[in-house]
Amino acid sequence: MARLGLAAAVLIGLAQGALGDLQTCGQAQYDPTQYVCWDNQFLCPITAGEPLSYCAGACYSKFMYTCSNNVLTLLPPATTPFTLTVDNPTLSIHGKPVTASGLHWLLDGQTSSYCPSEVGSECPPGNTTVIVASGGSAAMSVMVPGGQQVYLDPYWGVAYTQAHSATIPPGSTTTGFGAYEGGGFVNLNGNGWGWVACPPRASGGGGTAWTLVAKNATNAGILNDCPAINLKINALPSGTVGAWQYT
Ligand SMILES: *[C@@H]1O[C@H](CO)[C@@H](O)[C@H](O)[C@H]1NC(C)=O
Ligand SMILES: *[C@@H]1O[C@H](CO)[C@@H](O)[C@H](O)[C@H]1NC(C)=O
Repeated sequence: MARLGLAAAVLIGLAQGALGDLQTCGQAQYDPTQYVCWDNQFLCPITAGEPLSYCAGACYSKFMYTCSNNVLTLLPPATTPFTLTVDNPTLSIHGKPVTASGLHWLLDGQTSSYCPSEVGSECPPGNTTVIVASGGSAAMSVMVPGGQQVYLDPYWGVAYTQAHSATIPPGSTTTGFGAYEGGGFVNLNGNGWGWVACPPRASGGGGTAWTLVAKNATNAGILNDCPAINLKINALPSGTVGAWQYT
């Protein structure tokens, strides 16, 4: 999806490279904090802390693609439930989980869930945030009848419906999610700007959790303080349910 955009980014990077501490890649010079050189010949950008891989003329993210016999191929869809972790080795929250709380996905927070007393010991532990995806949509992996659908709220944060309610605010987006086996959970809406992690506000009462936002052409300008991340899929056995319901 982002292949043309990435090629353009390489050209811009070369033009700006004179500012940094340069290395050479074949005939070209590049800034190693922003690019990776493959086979002393091909430059790919580093995005969200991931040095993009190279496949027969294209730079690609391992969170979405694989290169087999020199052909760039989408990873297969994730067919089992999964948890998600933040991936960007340059950040302190690298490896920390996506956590459901307050009907939103946070990063490195505490999972909030509820188990009715009449269900009691039949409830899953409810302390991890488990997700299922198929056909471009996603849901929380819960027992509560009706389930809990995942959507982008009107601010492009990731939200999920309250148990026993199908209500989704106007302006939300319920499709366009890609979940790739051995890869990541990707927002395919808005031309592949990817996810960003917004740090906790010093003044806010929201604790130490970071906020997850899907970037796009419209909101990119106000998200400058929020670094890009990937969301890595950690597959769980088929049928894994995370909670009775997430709250
Ligand atoms: C969740 O709870 C279970 C059962 O109490 C426990 O074994 C597990 O370590 C907990 N996991 C996390 C991530 O807290
Ligand atoms: C981008 O996200 C903002 C919310 O942050 C939303 O209002 C806007 O409609 C989105 N833009 C596009 C092009 O989808």
